[in-house]
Amino acid sequence: MEEWYVAPGPASREFAELFANRINVSLLTIEFTTFPDGESKIRVIEDVRNKRVIMVQSTYPPTDVHIMQALMLSYKISQDGGEVYALIPYLGYARQDKEFLKGEVVSLAVIARLLRSVGVKRLITVDIHSSEGLGYFPFPAYSVSAIPAIAKYVNENYHLNKPVVVSPDFGASARAEGLAQLINSEYIVLSKKRDRLTGEVSIEDKTLNLEDRDVVIIDDIISTGGSVQKAALLLKKYGARKIITACTHPIMVSNALERITSAGVEEVIGTNTIPSPISKVDVTPIVAEYFKSLMSREY
Ligand code: R5P
Repeated sequence: MEEWYVAPGPASREFAELFANRINVSLLTIEFTTFPDGESKIRVIEDVRNKRVIMVQSTYPPTDVHIMQALMLSYKISQDGGEVYALIPYLGYARQDKEFLKGEVVSLAVIARLLRSVGVKRLITVDIHSSEGLGYFPFPAYSVSAIPAIAKYVNENYHLNKPVVVSPDFGASARAEGLAQLINSEYIVLSKKRDRLTGEVSIEDKTLNLEDRDVVIIDDIISTGGSVQKAALLLKKYGARKIITACTHPIMVSNALERITSAGVEEVIGTNTIPSPISKVDVTPIVAEYFKSLMSREY
């Protein structure tokens, strides 16, 4: 089993093409249609027997549809004798990785079982919400960091004045520290709380000395924009000059961008794990580096 192919899922066609070029691997022809009632139909044209196939599909909204497509595609490849490497740049449901309230489903555990059941051999994702989540997968699972690519974008596009990287919560503190090192700045961690019943976010007020300083807010995901909005309002209150924000996965539900910019954020930067108008940072070089090393080791 030596030949490698990339199978582009319907949610990540552009990402898959960029990625396949970078690792110098051919794309399989995948036919995708939607039935009038919304069900997906997928057809794999080439013979994949004894091939190693990297199935690329990000599971952003509509999350359940994209997950179903990833499962169908993986199932067909493994059923026909191929080995499936699931490259899921944005892994939906990764935030529900604990039973936060009694009785809640740990959705990520369900995703892990489903991927296993359709024959996935290995998972590669980008900036999983929490590295603990990787432990649910009953096969090797790895999360590549987008922080070096985000840092490169910031360094190439900004000359920040006395910069500070800000994480809205403790969960993103390692990302903040990593970005701060790469853009040569300090970092601070705010204390965000989410009401587990209403989903409402609040950030604890604490005195910060940000006079004349530029700030980069970093998070793994921007969904409604509430976390970044609340952080930006606090940072402005304590004198921040320019505020920009960056995330790996720009889900950008409804008016998230407007919500963030109206809180005083000058630019919102996301990566192309999810296609969106703010997906300005290409993470395929970093993912390709990981795969090149993996491909040289898999035998
Ligand atoms: C949660 O802890 C994540 O790291 C993000 O902070 C969160 O998903 C962002 O969501 P929203 O944009 O809706 O505040």
